[in-house]
Amino acid sequence: MNTRERWGTRVGLVLAVAGNAVGLGNFLRFPAQAAQNGGGAFIIPYLVSFLLMGIPLLWIEWAIGRHGGVRGHHSTPGMFDVMGRSPLLKYLGVFGLFTNLCVAAYYCYIESWTLAYVWHSLVGTFRLESATAFFPRFLGQTEGSLFALPLEATFWFCLTLALNLFILSRGLTRGIELAARIGMPLLMLFGIILAVRGLTLGPDTPHVVQSPLAGLDFIWRPRLSGLTDPSTWLAAAGQVFFTLSVGMGSIHCYASYLRSRQDIALNASAAGWMNEFVEVVLGSSIIIPIAVAYLGLDAVRSATAGGSGFGLGFLTLPTLFNHWGWFAPLAGMLWFGLLFFAGITSSLAMGQPILAFFEDSFRFSRLKAALTFGAATFALGFLCVWLYPGGAFDEFDFWTGTFSLVAFALGESIIFAWVFGMDKGWEEITRGADMKVPRFFRFVIRFVTPAFILVIFLSSLVKPAEGDWGAAFAMLGTGGGWPLDGDSVIGKILHVGVDDQRWIRDGALTRMFVQDATRILLLCVFIGWGFLVHRAWKRKREVAP
Ligand code: ALA
Repeated sequence: MNTRERWGTRVGLVLAVAGNAVGLGNFLRFPAQAAQNGGGAFIIPYLVSFLLMGIPLLWIEWAIGRHGGVRGHHSTPGMFDVMGRSPLLKYLGVFGLFTNLCVAAYYCYIESWTLAYVWHSLVGTFRLESATAFFPRFLGQTEGSLFALPLEATFWFCLTLALNLFILSRGLTRGIELAARIGMPLLMLFGIILAVRGLTLGPDTPHVVQSPLAGLDFIWRPRLSGLTDPSTWLAAAGQVFFTLSVGMGSIHCYASYLRSRQDIALNASAAGWMNEFVEVVLGSSIIIPIAVAYLGLDAVRSATAGGSGFGLGFLTLPTLFNHWGWFAPLAGMLWFGLLFFAGITSSLAMGQPILAFFEDSFRFSRLKAALTFGAATFALGFLCVWLYPGGAFDEFDFWTGTFSLVAFALGESIIFAWVFGMDKGWEEITRGADMKVPRFFRFVIRFVTPAFILVIFLSSLVKPAEGDWGAAFAMLGTGGGWPLDGDSVIGKILHVGVDDQRWIRDGALTRMFVQDATRILLLCVFIGWGFLVHRAWKRKREVAP
């Protein structure tokens, strides 16, 4: 165990925390979400959510983390345990272990695609085979099958996981900090090269059908229409959660390696704003403008349906790079290399809290803790690989990468402001601060942020069909009931929109079976973590004199 571990330098700390935030979400999910939700109509709800929810949550999580860390806790159960008297508080911290482990499982899988694509770009695979044909083959998808056993994808997944474990096992400064110091500048450099190349595609460039600037204009020119659309707010808030990695438990962990009087206010803001810069400026300037230049705005908008950005990132872009002649393999290397660095600096932040839990609570060595995390991530991640066509991956993404974050953030914002108390909370945020935190945020953290998250949480439970709230209320008023969307939380649980709700049809398992089995498994993982937390505290009581 090494609870005295500390960050090496301030720059290293900010880069590591920014690396945690800057991830695949910045370059794939953000542009796709923005395009899907009306471009500039998305941007105002997104920025408001960042200011009223993102920034306050960053301060809350850094404060909880440093407060717990100086008391010897580097994962969320222990941190919540020392915030109040109730023995139940530590169980809220289970979210911080559950989310990190389960997101790491499917996130490392996407990360491994990026590594594989670096290789395939360099060896020229996408010149010989279209990326559209390559992607499903790589994932082992076959028509009508729920299962896949893609040997190549499994190899890259294992390699990616091994890299993560190797870095994690080297510790905070020699592992995570070093990776961020190398990865973040390279990522920025790769991004800038691609953005400059994409944005300078002129009308005379062969195959260009529209100015790439039309893509930027679409995303950046604010439109007020999004302000009155709850679905746009829901999507914008969801993106803020994912991109900042708030509601996960990883920021708490990184902040727990600070000393009691070390600044958190400025560090949190710097990392948060750096993430926003990379997301809104760099994230908007690559995938959308290049795709708009060659395909036109309308085609790009329909290609972003689903909002994950996988289509544009893994199918469209490698194909379009082929227009760039000798630069094509390099462009592919830069794009997927950028995604890889973005991904790995985030997945390391998901691993560290798990390692810290085993180190703090069960006195595991760092290597043993890293191997334990690796085995668990492999087991869960392999399910995402194997059952990708059946929808297991999407279930992981929804329940652990979307829903869990909001649920945890709701709990922690209430505990922080109302159980720990705003006086202590504000003192914790401002102690040692290298910036003046506007007093207005004391009010925001106490009332606005929890209320904001509560509204997001409740809306996601009952989001109506097509996201049309006006029509849904009208229908409710006329006694027609509430038309739940299949993507709402309750809609997912009830499988709204699935007519034939059977687990077995014609002797074969159905997609619904895979979905429900994955949910039951995730619930078991959550309960399992709860049990481990219980054991850890029992052990502590036994060991204590
Ligand atoms: N914050 C990380 C991302 O944006 C998880 O991908």
